[in-house]
Amino acid sequence: MDLRERLKTYGAGNAYPFHMPGHKRQKQPGSLFPYDLDITEIDGFDNLHHAEGILAEAMERAAKLWGSRKSFFLVNGSSAGLLAGIRALTKRGDKVLMARGCHRAVYHAVELCGLHPVYMQAAWVEEMQISGSIQPETVEKHLQEHPDCNLVILTSPTYEGVVSDIAEIAKIAHRYGAYLLVDEAHGAHLGFGEGFPDTAVHLGADVVVQSLHKTLPCPTQTAILHVCTEQVDVTEVGRQLSVFQTSSPSYVFMAEMDGCISLLERERESLFAAYEKRLASFYEQMEKLEHIRLCQPENSSFVFGHDRGKLLFFTGNCNLSGVELSDILRERYELEMEMSLSLHTLAMTSIFDTDEGMERLAKAMLEIDKEVMPVKQPLAKGQMVLPQMVCGMEEALQGETTEVMLQDSLGKIAADFLWAYPPGIPLVAPGERISEEVLAQAFYMQKNGVNVQCAFAKDGWIRLRF
Ligand SMILES: Cc1ncc(COP(=O)(O)O)c(C=O)c1O
Repeated sequence: MDLRERLKTYGAGNAYPFHMPGHKRQKQPGSLFPYDLDITEIDGFDNLHHAEGILAEAMERAAKLWGSRKSFFLVNGSSAGLLAGIRALTKRGDKVLMARGCHRAVYHAVELCGLHPVYMQAAWVEEMQISGSIQPETVEKHLQEHPDCNLVILTSPTYEGVVSDIAEIAKIAHRYGAYLLVDEAHGAHLGFGEGFPDTAVHLGADVVVQSLHKTLPCPTQTAILHVCTEQVDVTEVGRQLSVFQTSSPSYVFMAEMDGCISLLERERESLFAAYEKRLASFYEQMEKLEHIRLCQPENSSFVFGHDRGKLLFFTGNCNLSGVELSDILRERYELEMEMSLSLHTLAMTSIFDTDEGMERLAKAMLEIDKEVMPVKQPLAKGQMVLPQMVCGMEEALQGETTEVMLQDSLGKIAADFLWAYPPGIPLVAPGERISEEVLAQAFYMQKNGVNVQCAFAKDGWIRLRF
C-alpha cells in the first residue's frame, strides 16, 4: 500500500488523534485543504528526518527511478535542498565556483556558510537575448585560476530551458578535486523522455536538486535532492536537510511525491511519448509564425542543449512586447503565461498538458502573429560585466548600513542584494561596488517589466555599507 492509500485508510478509520496537528483531521467550513489526510509522525508513518519505514521505501523507489545513489524528499522546495547540499559539500570559508545566474537560494547558502564565491558567466545568445550554457572551457579556466575551489555550482536547465554540458563539466570539476552540484530545479522531468536532455543525475554531478512541483505533476513546495556519487557524505547531507527543513513535514506533500513516483514508474514511457508528440506538433505549427518567434536555443553555438518543454517566444522582431503578448493571451484567450518580459513570453509545459490546451495556445499565437507588424526592437547590451567585489557578503550584511535611492548609489558598496525577478538572480550582491553598468542594467530591466528589488530596502532604494 503506498502512502496515499495508507493516509486514506487511516483517515477513514476510527483512530482518534490526541496528537498534532491541532485541526484534529476536521475540515473547517469552507476549507479547501485535505485535513482528513494531514497527520504527523504517528506510529507506522515513519519520520522524514530518520526514515526507516514507508518514507525510506518511497525515497528508495525515487533513487531507483532517477538512478541516484540516494534521494531525499524535500518539502521546502529546491531552496532547502540547495542550502543543505551546499552546506554538506563545503566547510566554512571555502571557495566555490558558481554561475552568476544561480538562484537566490545559492547566494543565501554562500552567505550562511561564509563561502567565498568566484563567479562565472554564461555566454550571451544575442539573437534570442538570453544566457546560453556555461561552457566547460569557462569552468576549466576559472578552476585553473582558483584551484582551491571545492565546489562548482550551476543551474541547468535555466528558467529558459538552457542546459549545460554536465558530463564534461563534472569531469573537469573532479579533475580539480571539486564537487559538482547542479541546480536542476527546472529539470525534474529530464532523463525520462528521449526528446529531452538527460538529467545531471546520470552525467556525473555529485548532488542534483530538482523541484518536482515545477515540471512534474506534484504540489508546490515538493522537490527532491539526489546524491549521485560515492564521494558525497550521505549522512552529512541528511543532517543538513534536518537543519534546513521543517521538523513537521507535510504528509500530504510526501504522499503526493510518492504518488508522482508511482505514476512515473508505471506510465512514464506513454506519458512522455504523448508529451513529446504534443510538443512536436506545437513546434511544427509555430513554423508558420512570421513575426513572433518560438526560440530554439539548441541551434545556437552558445547552447549545449535545450528543454523543448519551455516554450520561449521572442517578440524582438515585432511591435509587441513580451508583456503585451502575455496580456493579450490572458485577456483574449484566457491563457496564463509563466513569465513575460520586454522581449519574451515563456509558457511552461509538462506531461499533464492537454491536447486542447496546446491547441488553444497554438491557435492564439498564430492569430496574434497575423495582427502584429515587423519592427526591430532595441536589444540589450548582453551579459553584464561583474561588479567589483570589495568585501565578503557576511561582512557587508553585518556591518553598519545606510539606505539611499538607487540612482544615488553609484560607486558605493552594496549591503543588500539587488534582485531581478524573474528569475531571481542578483545584479549586485552584498560587498560589491555598484557600477554604472549595474545601474544601467537595473533601470533597463525595470523599464522592460522586470521587478528589480532589494532584499531589505524599500522600492527604488538600496542598503549600502556605511
Ligand atoms: C533555478 C532555480 N533554482 C531553485 C529554485 C527554487 O526552487 P523552489 O521554489 O522549489 O524552492 C528556483 C525557483 O524558482 C529556480 O528557478
